[in-house]
Order: sequence, then structure tokens, then C-alpha cells
Amino acid sequence: MAITKAKGTYDILPSDSYKWSFIEDKIRQVCQIFNYEEIRTPIFEASELFHRTVGETSDLVKKETYDFKDRGDRLVTLRPEGTAGVVRAYIENKMYTEPINKLFYIGSMFRYERPQKGRYRQFNQFGVECFGSSDPIMDAEVISLAVTIIKAFRLKGVKVRLNTLGDDTTRESYKAALVEYFSKYKDDICEDCKVRLEKNPLRILDCKVDRDTEIFKNAPKITDYLSIEAKSRFTKVLEYLDSMQINYEVDPMIVRGLDYYTHTIFEIEAQIEGFGSQNVMCGGGRYDHLVENLGGPSTPGIGFAFGLERLLTAIEAEHDLNSEMQVHLFVIALGDKARLAATKIVNDMRCGGLITEMDYLNGKLKNQFKLCEKYNAKYIAILGDSELENNEINVKTPNSTEQVTIPIDNLYQYVVSKLRSSSCQGCSSSCGDCNCDCEGNKNE
Ligand code: HAM
Repeated sequence: MAITKAKGTYDILPSDSYKWSFIEDKIRQVCQIFNYEEIRTPIFEASELFHRTVGETSDLVKKETYDFKDRGDRLVTLRPEGTAGVVRAYIENKMYTEPINKLFYIGSMFRYERPQKGRYRQFNQFGVECFGSSDPIMDAEVISLAVTIIKAFRLKGVKVRLNTLGDDTTRESYKAALVEYFSKYKDDICEDCKVRLEKNPLRILDCKVDRDTEIFKNAPKITDYLSIEAKSRFTKVLEYLDSMQINYEVDPMIVRGLDYYTHTIFEIEAQIEGFGSQNVMCGGGRYDHLVENLGGPSTPGIGFAFGLERLLTAIEAEHDLNSEMQVHLFVIALGDKARLAATKIVNDMRCGGLITEMDYLNGKLKNQFKLCEKYNAKYIAILGDSELENNEINVKTPNSTEQVTIPIDNLYQYVVSKLRSSSCQGCSSSCGDCNCDCEGNKNE
């Protein structure tokens, strides 16, 4: 029997892999603009790292990690998220000798969850982690980076939701209020929440079972328990966001599912029809004690991670990514001599950086035109023996009557100048705010 893929995993085939390159390239562009540097950490780490980072009472560590013993009897875990490994690397490589580190990563994460639309056992995250500053300006920058990613993909149906978990004093008084409140409903909450009530009452608000009940809706709100310092810090974050004209909603019920957060936390949700229940594309927040808890010097930190599968679903719901996959030039050759000459032309075009394609099956003209369509060619050059005799080539723009005959030697310059004049700032700019005449802006 043929072996099939493991449950909750999937293959990215060529018909889709270009979409992944497209989103990863754009993410890298945005990170470069914000001056974030890439970090790559191992896919597995000592299990203890995640137990100490993410928290023993979180669902992630209790139910969802891929833990195993290696042949040396060491307990290791496939990383369920990126922050823990990055913090470990930050400490181990003494990166704290630099006052500020602004880092990003793209890679696979592993969680043993029940697979469904938007939820996989191996999935991909793009994340950033920023160390060294507790200034609210850093919170605002990190959130603005996440929002710039959204803008770079010209996504409209999204909402940024923000909350604060305050400082230690805030969390202590809020936890006490939660214990008092939920103790009254002990018989009505799920078994997991009964344990959470004892061990980590904040986690109750993250319950996937009871979240939408009246009891939960009427639970105490953290905003009523903020210390003066925590409140003024959060107000500053909001002021910075306002000055950058970033739209957000303060939602006191967000707590996030991981234990390391302090102060600002946020989520970006896709509000796109057909998206399903797994609609949180991005989650993040501040973790000012994590570096110290893992044995490093006391260092504030903040970051976020996008789930790339969900980001891609959102992009595809609003845009046709097929148009991003374009061959610049397809060279059609008719006849043996023309095929020989076309091979050189295609090679010259590629050496000049143009994405160029030809037919390898010696197909008829009709079949070669079908290939142009398949590859979404921007321009088609047609070479027959008679053109070749005159050292000329026909160039056609698909879906238009535009067709010219030009010297073969001018082909490269011709295609490059045509591509330049039709190039669209809206598709290539990272902000997505340009005023060009591209399809994206026409739709606004
Ligand atoms: P998280 O909220 O656990 O945060 O995950 C971030 C994003 O990863 C989610 O919003 C979702 O889009 C995606 N995601 C999570 N689980 C799955 C899954 N099973 N299948 C598909 N996508 C999934 C973190 O991981 C934190 N490390 C974020 C962070 C970075 N906070 C500070 N720095």
C-alpha cells in the first residue's frame, strides 16, 4: 500500500509553491524596511525549554506538543512556536551585548491539534522578536510592522484587537478577582477550567469550550484592575498607534494562550466570509520576564507571529494570486532553424534576468499559445524561419491587438522597456498605499 502524508500535514506543490515564495519575499522586504534581521533556530529543542517558556498549564504544552526521546534518551520537542527558541538563542549567543535586537523568522511549527480548516499539525509562521526596549514606542513599532504586512498584501477584511495584561501588580489583583468570580460557577465550568482556577486563573478566559457563555461574558475585565503605571503605559501605546493612524479595537477579553505575556498583547483577525473559526492570523505581545526566566539578564521583549496558511487564505480570498506568477516572455519557435535560434534567444533573455519560457515538446502553434496562457506570459515572441532570415522577431501582447516586428537584437531592450512602463507600484511597493492605476487600487 502506498504511504500517505501524516495527518494534519500537507504538500506544497508547484501549483501553489510560487504563492509561498511570493508571500515570503514580500515579508522579507517589509522586515528589511523595518530593519529586522533574520534568525534561524533549530526545529527541535530540549522539551524543558517549552515547558518553562509557554507554561505548564497552557493547552499548548499540556496537549499539543510533539515530545519524544531521542536515541540518547534526551527529551526533545518539535517547536510548537518560535519565541522560545529565539529567546534561547538570544541568551546562549549573548546577543544581549547589543542594546537592541530586532529579529524575524519564517519556518515550520508543530502542534498536535485536531486538524481542521486553518489548523494543521505542521504549519508555518512568520514571526518577529524584539529585545532590549520596554518603551511603548517599541510596542507600537511591532504592531505597525504587523499592520504593514497586512497592507503589503492589500488586505481589507482584517481587525487589530489589542489588550494589556498590565504589570505584576495588575495581574495579581486580576487573578484574585477571577478566582473569586469563577469559584461561584465551579459546577458550570469545564474540567480543564476547574484545574485552571487552581493553577492559572488567567487561562480560564482562553477556554475553547466555555468561551461564549454568559458566565464568561460577565467575567471581570482586566481594564478595571490596571495599576496606574500599567494604565499610563497602555495609554502611551495607543497614542503612538493613533499618531501612526493605525486602526485597532481595545478588547479586554483577549488573554492569549501562552503564559509568558506581560503588558501589551494583540491579535489580528481575518473577517472574511468563508474563513471559518480559525480566523486569528496573527498573535503577539510583550514578554518582559521571559529572558530572565530562561536564565538570561533581565531584558524586555516583544513580538508576534503570523500563521502563514491563514495569511495565504486571507490573501487568496481577496486577490487573484495567479497574476503574481508571470513569465515575462514566452518564445514560440516554428521550424527547426527557428528552434535552434530560439534556444539562444531564451538563454540570452534569462541571462539578462527576464523570466523566459519556451516549448520543449516541439508542439504546434496552437499548443504553444496554450502554454503562454498556462504560464501567464506578459509578452510572446514568435519566430519562424522567414523572420529568422531577416533577423527579425514578432512580439505580441496577449489579450490585445498589439503586435510588432523588431530586430532580434532589440528584443531584450523592447521587453524590458515594456515591462517597466507597465510595472505597477501598487503591486511592488510594501506599503500598498501608492496612487498608481493598478488593479488593486482601482478596486478601492
Ligand atoms: P500563537 O497565537 O500561538 O502565538 O500563534 C500565532 C499564529 O500562528 C496564530 O495566530 C495562527 O495564525 C497560527 N497558528 C497557530 N496554531 C496553528 C495551527 N495549528 N495551524 C495553523 N496555524 C496556526 C505564538 O506562536 C507566539 N509565539 C507569537 C509571539 C511571538 N508572541 C510573541 N512573539
